[in-house]
Amino acid sequence: MSIFQLLYTSTAKHAMAQSELDTILESAQRNNAKVGVTGFLIFDGKSFIQLLEGEERDVQAVYKKILDDPRHSQVEPLLQDMKPTRSLSNWAMAYTQLDSKGHRHSGGSMDPSNARELATMLKQNATPMRLIIAEFLSTAFSKNS
Ligand SMILES: Cc1cc2nc3c(=O)[nH]c(=O)nc-3n(C[C@H](O)[C@H](O)[C@H](O)COP(=O)(O)O)c2cc1C
Repeated sequence: MSIFQLLYTSTAKHAMAQSELDTILESAQRNNAKVGVTGFLIFDGKSFIQLLEGEERDVQAVYKKILDDPRHSQVEPLLQDMKPTRSLSNWAMAYTQLDSKGHRHSGGSMDPSNARELATMLKQNATPMRLIIAEFLSTAFSKNS
């Protein structure tokens, strides 16, 4: 079975308290686990980048809820693709927070090798936005790791 993969960025509506982020992550992990959607969520204090992967209709259903969420805006899909396998299979939603310098906080569950794989994928069929995200991922995950 091939896997549908969707990557988007968005901007937080306001400064997010840790408790708000925890609530988002709890929803994501609980709901996504039920439908077999996996991926990661990165937050740098202003912007989110999220990868969702699973069966296409499940990913689209999760994405529809996310689009309607008032806690963020400017939701822009960067990549929608079918892949033979998942990039991240072990986490309902791996999570990483970056500080203002783009350094990764310790304790996140995302693996640097996943970030590298994704950066490589984005560089194929590159658009300016994809290259920026690829660069961002490579830089963030080469530090503190
Ligand atoms: C940046 C961001 C990422 C989110 N990611 C997910 C997700 O992966 N899965 C999910 O079910 N909800 C996610 N949400 C939350 C949904 O928008 C929505 O609030 C939630 O699914 C509602 O379900 P609940 O009532 O069971 O908590 C996200 C929200 C934001 C702002």
